[in-house]
Amino acid sequence: MSLEPFASPDQLDPKLRSFLEEASGKLCNWFAETGDAAPLPTSSYLPDIPPSLEGLSNEALLKDIQILMNGAYRPSHPGSLAHLDPPPLTSSIVADLVSAGLNNNLLANELSPGFTKLEKKVCDWIAHRIGMSSGSGGVLASGGTISNLMALVLARKQANLQSNPNVVILASSDAHTSLLKAVGIMGLSPNSLRRVSTNEEGQILVDTLFDELKQLRANGLKCFAVVATAGTTIRGAIDPLKEIAEFCLREDIWFHIDGAIGGVFGLIKDTSHLVDGISLANSVSINPQKILGVAKTSSLLLVANRTELNSCFGTDIPYLEPVVGDDFHGGEIGIQGTRPADIFKLWLGLRQLGDKGIQLLLEQAIERREYLQKHIDASKFFIASGPLHLIALTPKNADKSISYSWSNTTRQHLLDQNFMVSRPFYNGKYYLKVVLGNPHTQFSHLDKLAMLINQSVNS
Ligand SMILES: Cc1ncc(COP(=O)(O)O)c(C=O)c1O
Repeated sequence: MSLEPFASPDQLDPKLRSFLEEASGKLCNWFAETGDAAPLPTSSYLPDIPPSLEGLSNEALLKDIQILMNGAYRPSHPGSLAHLDPPPLTSSIVADLVSAGLNNNLLANELSPGFTKLEKKVCDWIAHRIGMSSGSGGVLASGGTISNLMALVLARKQANLQSNPNVVILASSDAHTSLLKAVGIMGLSPNSLRRVSTNEEGQILVDTLFDELKQLRANGLKCFAVVATAGTTIRGAIDPLKEIAEFCLREDIWFHIDGAIGGVFGLIKDTSHLVDGISLANSVSINPQKILGVAKTSSLLLVANRTELNSCFGTDIPYLEPVVGDDFHGGEIGIQGTRPADIFKLWLGLRQLGDKGIQLLLEQAIERREYLQKHIDASKFFIASGPLHLIALTPKNADKSISYSWSNTTRQHLLDQNFMVSRPFYNGKYYLKVVLGNPHTQFSHLDKLAMLINQSVNS
């Protein structure tokens, strides 16, 4: 008896073909109707959860698929501006489909011979492109949280401090919460993440960082990593990377850059000045899923010395064929074992965009932020931004409670007008945050958004 849900290995499978055609037709329709819909769905209905006794036909599954699509968030809507979740490149859709069909596993060379090589070459190329020296390279991960965790595990290992509880990491008060997760997973107390204050631009205060390190050492603590952020989550600020790099070199401390948001700006000559110094890091996290449109998940950890990844995460895995030369199994250079060929859509996306497309995407995102910023009434709002494509604002002179109710009401009002923005709590107040990485958002949309925001506060 043959089980129908598996494609025939002997002949073109007509059921697979029509299943794919029907599903991709539905997906194309879903995109096409997005402009007339809203960022958030109105339906929260889910199909039956448990499998029925007899498996469902493709026709029944397509009905269920449609229900899930009806309840999905729409990143392609021009008003979807809340988070770092842009619409996907069309090449990502195709790559994920093909990748699921191939079902290769980046755990092992023998389970993904082509993709393992591709991952190495693409990581080498990106590391080179952002200016890291020869010997650099990297690994893909399921998101920036895992990339940051791997960087810190590696930093601690290189400092030979794995069994020392009296260790700390220094990062800015605006650094991402994934660092807090990382210290917890690494068996450290939350207090081992030391937050250094920022200036008015949201950048770490370098002098305070120096003082903090002196103080820590005087107290018998060891700092095994300084984390700079290239693109903070709320406002897109970039820490002074070069200065911190020099400091870390002088003090012999691992320098990690969380470039989950800003790292991609290093790919293009005309935007690379924004992340000047990125090449000097020991490790860098970069998330092409956050602005380039590579579908989730797409995150990299790049390191100055690629072989350190294997020294840190390698286990001499006993059930795989040994690899020859300087290659490693993909499951031996990071935390994840089995993982999909995320590299496929990253590579295909970079090829689809080309240098010009990447540049356009990055520069237009910044232009949209500048445009919106220019149209916000600066007499009414305190604006927190940076050089990238993020902007956050809160009414001037509002305290925590006023900013809470203003942000709540205004966010809902904006949703009613098909604009979705987010509502972060930042420096003691609630803000509305707008992320301008959506290529479908036009200046005309921003005119309306600015008008609605300006009207939310009386003169
Ligand atoms: C600066 C920064 N680092 C790390 C992360 C975590 O990335 P992920 O959600 O992909 O795990 C984020 C998420 O927004 C971020 O903004």
